[in-house]
Amino acid sequence: MAEPLRVALAGLGTVGTGVIRLLETNRAMVEGRAGRPIEIVAVSARDRARDRGVDLSSYAWVDDMQAMAERGDVNVVVELVGGADGPALTLARAALDAGKGLITANKAMVAHHGLALAELAALHSAPFKFEAAVAGGIPVVKGIREGAAANALDRIYGILNGTCNYILSEMERTGADFDDMLRSAQEKGYAEADPTFDVEGVDAAHKIAILAAIGFGARIDFEAVETTGIGEVRAADITQAKTLGYVVRLVGAAHLEDVGGRRSMLQRVRPCLVPLGHPLAAVKGPTNAVVAEGNFSGRLLFQGAGAGEGPTASAVVADLIDIARGDLGPPFSVSVDALETIMQADPGERQGRDYIRFSVNDRPGVLAEITAAMRDAGVSIESLIQHGRDHDGGEVLVAMVTHDGPERCVTKAIDLLDGSPSLTAPPLVMPILKD
Ligand SMILES: NC(=O)c1ccc[n+]([C@@H]2O[C@H](COP(=O)([O-])OP(=O)(O)OC[C@H]3O[C@@H](n4cnc5c(N)ncnc54)[C@H](OP(=O)(O)O)[C@@H]3O)[C@@H](O)[C@H]2O)c1
Repeated sequence: MAEPLRVALAGLGTVGTGVIRLLETNRAMVEGRAGRPIEIVAVSARDRARDRGVDLSSYAWVDDMQAMAERGDVNVVVELVGGADGPALTLARAALDAGKGLITANKAMVAHHGLALAELAALHSAPFKFEAAVAGGIPVVKGIREGAAANALDRIYGILNGTCNYILSEMERTGADFDDMLRSAQEKGYAEADPTFDVEGVDAAHKIAILAAIGFGARIDFEAVETTGIGEVRAADITQAKTLGYVVRLVGAAHLEDVGGRRSMLQRVRPCLVPLGHPLAAVKGPTNAVVAEGNFSGRLLFQGAGAGEGPTASAVVADLIDIARGDLGPPFSVSVDALETIMQADPGERQGRDYIRFSVNDRPGVLAEITAAMRDAGVSIESLIQHGRDHDGGEVLVAMVTHDGPERCVTKAIDLLDGSPSLTAPPLVMPILKD
């Protein structure tokens, strides 16, 4: 019998207990695929007394999870605690320093410290894997890093946050506003009590930064991701989008441009209008989906559950199987010293169409003021719709779709209108996703 792969599990919450359940349920199959048994030897969490619905009696309980990295009977540390810094990061560093493998589902930590951890992993020839950190159960990290490895990718984008997708697709289904659907998401367990990271797009930004690094062979650059959440999207925008043939989705996107051998990338998270015929338009509820476009593969679509106990545990155990098989491949597609520093593209150069919604006072001349700003900024309007008087006071909504053009013109138009007494709120600009 081959030597087992011995695992220390830090964090026994949703994902940690899921990993224990999966290894119990699929033990023989996992062993067959890994070529050797995968055994949990030690576990750690804050509260030893808590009933977690799984039997922990055969594992050593470790009060100070940092001690796991030092144990002689451990080959791999699985970090399922969370948090970009703090104890999760200390453990991750200690595990790699001790030459242990590291598996994590922690997108915040990978987005902020993935490069430094990959350097440490290379230094100690230790495996470092994080399939569960992006889109839960969807094997998109492996899909891009290995399945699509023969391709040059220039565009990776997708629905990377289930909470936002649930809220937006429920707003679409019910006609209700953001606040009501956020409450509903919290009641159904799709949103945290503090939903800030999700609804402000930070969680999706962590994930797109990771995917861009893998897909483009880039040094991860989370700080460069421009992030806009969904809090300003109104039910009226969704209705309007529908009549124009679109749905609204929060899209994380990374685009690579190559001008004369000089590569630049644009990484963004923004609510977008998605054409009804596009595969992302059909993605509803808490589901995630990622599209990657390769120069030989064409468009690839990865779709499935982006979170939850079972799907996320499935991704963690897939990483364990890889390590058990001896897979020591680089975490970000190429060896860490070959990762490129790719400069950020100027978003003003983005060529595309936009949906712009203005909330304005219902008085004569407002429309002329808006269209004059568009003209002066060089924005060409494809269609313009003025909604009837809104229920609260004299506010009306004016929505428009622009012709294809550089984004800098739209930004200039918005700047020209900045401070105008005609506007009751800052305009909302949503790019229209190219089909
Ligand atoms: N939940 C998902 O669907 C999902 C999906 C993808 C990725 N992830 C990522 O997976 C990771 C874990 O998420 P989760 O949902 O399983 O979290 P969770 O349910 O909150 O569990 C966190 C676990 O970490 C333990 N813990 C927290 N601070 C600790 C400390 N200082 N020392 C020791 N243990 C500590 C907690 O102990 P106690 O139980 O004793 O309090 C708990 O067992 C996070 O990075 C998350 O972003 C989660």
